[in-house]
Amino acid sequence: MKTFKKIIYWSLTVIALIQFIPVNRTNKTVDQKVNFVTVFNTPNNVQQVLKKACYDCHSNETVYPDYAYIAPISWSIKHHINEGREHLNFSEWGKFNKDLKKNMLKNAGQSVKDYSMPFPGYVAQHPEANLTKAERVLLVNYFEGLLKSENY
Ligand code: HEC
Repeated sequence: MKTFKKIIYWSLTVIALIQFIPVNRTNKTVDQKVNFVTVFNTPNNVQQVLKKACYDCHSNETVYPDYAYIAPISWSIKHHINEGREHLNFSEWGKFNKDLKKNMLKNAGQSVKDYSMPFPGYVAQHPEANLTKAERVLLVNYFEGLLKSENY
């Protein structure tokens, strides 16, 4: 019993202490000159779907949920956001070269089609990101339209 109490004591201490390790949750300011939705003048209904389903991980307009403030959950969330932004960042669209943009548009359409995006773990926590079939079709058509236009 003594060891058990010790384990609890030290676990709680460690959990308390890791809360002090800083996690950077400050979003970079969005430069409208390179912002995807500004560049393409994206229709409002498409913007809404992007914002509720993709922006938390693929833009500089992340909204952090309350539980994102508790370590170690906060570390895992920040890791996903960093990784998501590395693959695709709608806020910095204009900074990528044409080949990368082409790949991003292709992969974006594909990932929405095959339900790998939005990230399933995220959908469990964000019911509004559980896109309807119509919303998925809307996004996929939009990405494919841009691809076809070759003007990206
Ligand atoms: C909870 C965070 C999260 C959300 C929300 C999210 N993604 Fe992702 N996305 C990631 C992560 C992490 C990766 C990189 C790891 C991977 O590919 O699984 C990624 C990768 C991608 C990639 C690159 C895949 C590749 O093959 O290179 C595309 C494209 C993408 N996401 C599109 C989207 C779109 C479109 C949405 C909205 C419909 C979305 N994602 C929503 C986290 C997210």
